[in-house]
Order: sequence, then C-alpha cells, then structure tokens
Amino acid sequence: MPVESLTYLPGFNNQFSSEAIPGALPHGQNSPQRVPFGLYAEQLSGTAFTVPRSEARRTWLYRIRPSAAHPRFERLARQIPGREIGPVNPNRLRWNPHEVPAEPTDFLDGLLTLAATADAEQASGVSVHLYRANRSMDRVFFDADGELLIVPQQGRLRLATELGLLNIEPLEIAVIPRGMKFRVKLLDATASGYICENHGAALRIPDLGPIGSNGLANPRDFLAPVAHYEDIDAPVQLVQKFLGELWACELDHSPLDVVAWHGNHVPYKYDLRLFNTIGTVSYDHPDPSIFTVLTSPSDTHGMANVDFVIFPPRWMVAEKTFRPPWFHRNLMNEFMGLLLGAYDAKADGFAPGGASLHNCMSAHGPDNASTVQAIAVELAPHKIENTMAFMFETGRVLRPSRYALESPQLQRDYDACWSGMAKTFQRN
Ligand SMILES: [Fe+2]
Repeated sequence: MPVESLTYLPGFNNQFSSEAIPGALPHGQNSPQRVPFGLYAEQLSGTAFTVPRSEARRTWLYRIRPSAAHPRFERLARQIPGREIGPVNPNRLRWNPHEVPAEPTDFLDGLLTLAATADAEQASGVSVHLYRANRSMDRVFFDADGELLIVPQQGRLRLATELGLLNIEPLEIAVIPRGMKFRVKLLDATASGYICENHGAALRIPDLGPIGSNGLANPRDFLAPVAHYEDIDAPVQLVQKFLGELWACELDHSPLDVVAWHGNHVPYKYDLRLFNTIGTVSYDHPDPSIFTVLTSPSDTHGMANVDFVIFPPRWMVAEKTFRPPWFHRNLMNEFMGLLLGAYDAKADGFAPGGASLHNCMSAHGPDNASTVQAIAVELAPHKIENTMAFMFETGRVLRPSRYALESPQLQRDYDACWSGMAKTFQRN
C-alpha cells in the first residue's frame, strides 16, 4: 500500500516552529492574552525548568482545548504483561520472536515488557518492551514514565502525535518525548518491533571527539513533524502510563488538536540506513560504542544511562584480525534485537524479531560455529550486507520480567551455542 509522503522539519534538537494555519503561532511572546484563532496556549516541559540551557527541552502548544480539560483517570483492568520483574537471574538469555496475536490487538494491547533496569518510580534507567499489533489505535496514549524509542521490525506505522505526523518503516526509528500524546496507525496488516522506554535524560546524538565535526548519525537526518491537528468532537479514550500502570479517561474531543507549536521537546524519526558507519581500516575493530546512534547520559560522566547502538551493513577490511565481535565480559548491560538478516556473531538462533540479554560481567561473544569460521577464513575485504542488529546498552542491570522468564519464547538451551569450544592450545 503506497503511503503519501509527509513534510518534515530537519535537524536535531532544534528550536522548531510550525503552524497548520498561517498566523496561528503567536510571535514575540509565548502566552498572549488572546491567542490567534481562539486557541489555548500550553507549555509541555520535558526537563526541569532550571536545568542548563543545553539540556532544556520544552514546547509551547497552541491548541483547540487545553490538555487540562479531561475527566478523572481510572486504572485499566488490562495492564502491560511483564510489569512484574522476575527473580534475579545472571544467565545469558535469548528469546525467539513473539508473534503478533491473532485476536484484535492495537499498539497498546500488544505491548509486553521483557526487561527493566528499575522500578518506574525511579528517574533513570530504561524498560525494554516489545509491541505487536494487527489494527490501528482508536485511542490516544502518552507515557509519563519516559520517552519512547520505537524500533520497528515489521510493518509500517503512522504516528499521529500532538505536533504532527511521522511515518516510519523498518530500518527507521522514532522517538516520542515523555508526555507527548500520540496514536499509532498501522500502514500494513500487522506491525511489530521493539521499544526502549528511557526513564532518564533525553536521548541525544553523541559527542564525536576525535572523529570530528561529521559522522555517525548526522543532525540534518533527524526529522520532526509539521503541525497537523484534528478538530473532532467525538468520544475518544486517552490512556496514560504512570509509574508502570495504564490509566484511562474518556474525552469528548480529539486531544491531537494542536494547531501550532514551537520548541525542542519534539517527536522525531531517523533512517538507520543514513548512519555514517565508522570502523577500522587497519587491524582489530573499535568497541561498539563507535556505532552509537543516540545516547542518554547518566549522572556518572561517560557512562550512558542507555546507548542505542546499531550493527549496520559495513565493509570488513581488518588485516590479521579476528573479525567478529571478540569474546568479552563488560560492565555495561546489553539488550540486543535483530531487525533484518543475520548478526555476524551468531550462526543461528538469533532471529529477526528475537532478543538477547547479556548483563554485567556475563561472558559472551561469537558462538562456536562463528568462531571456528572466523579463525579459518582467508581474510579479504568483505561486505556484511542485508543486516541490521541493534543494542540498548545501559549502565544498569536489566532485570528480565517474570513474563519474559516464563515465556515459551525463552531459549532454555542458549548456553549450548558456546559448548564444544575446542581446546586448540598447543604448547609447542
Ligand atoms: Fe556483548
């Protein structure tokens, strides 16, 4: 199904402005006594007022009705599976893909939580969810617990947000800021993918250090929507996620009624195929931090609350080098997913839509088959193609949910991929 193309505003963390009706955006002030066209002014802040200016995220909204015009929220009977964190487990874990359910399932119905670093009460860490859907949302959602990094694996989505429309497809990502209302429409029969819910500092593109002024994800490739509003006086359910729970109220109008806006607390999309991938041109390969698309810093300088890292198609040219990811035991905690193709460290068992979790100090790396092949192969320039794996890497241990630990998708024999490693040591 062809989808009409949308207009976007390019740039990362810009102070954007947009109006769906010329003249709707006040000029020279944020809160005039009378807003043009009888709109209401409302500020949505994503950071504390007094953070350093470079950290500040906020947007002014000019809307048909203020968000405050809502009745009481009631707790929904149906909550997100996986809310309950499971028993402590230091094992390496891997899951097969979770299929899209057969029964009618919208984006919210199909959420499940695989792992989380902390209770939702804490203002840092991340939660990792999957989404599966076979119908568009009629309702509207916002997340008070964090911003949402949406990573589609299958099926195109239209994200109708308060600030406008974003179309995304697999190999693109979108970020919805904390608190922003949105509705997910399916542009294909089904959709599924991954979500990193970031409870900490807002995602940003990383510093480049010696790389210089260009490279990795370039700012101009991030796209924010233009203003687009609904003027609909009809019942709609508004759902929020608050301290891990879903609560809902019934509105008598669409809450996606923002006619004009300005600010930098905005949803955005990015095409992972535009990532400027950097790697070795001599020997060995850099740490995977070289593949960071977006990062959320923690309070510990240099240690991410979460990095979003990708393993895109790329040339492998390293001489005299074991080319797959080396065996490692890391401080950081690694949740991985696969969007397309195969991952170069695993011969099988890690399927598109699947997931793996390697927590702090767990020993892992290429499986036995990949290791044998990589040691034996005649090295020549080689392009890894038709692949896109990613990692949510966090400084805090990701605790799998009870649901994830008990799910039939959990591979109970994952350790076996490292069994049978031959002893190749020869003293002479
Ligand atoms: Fe790893």
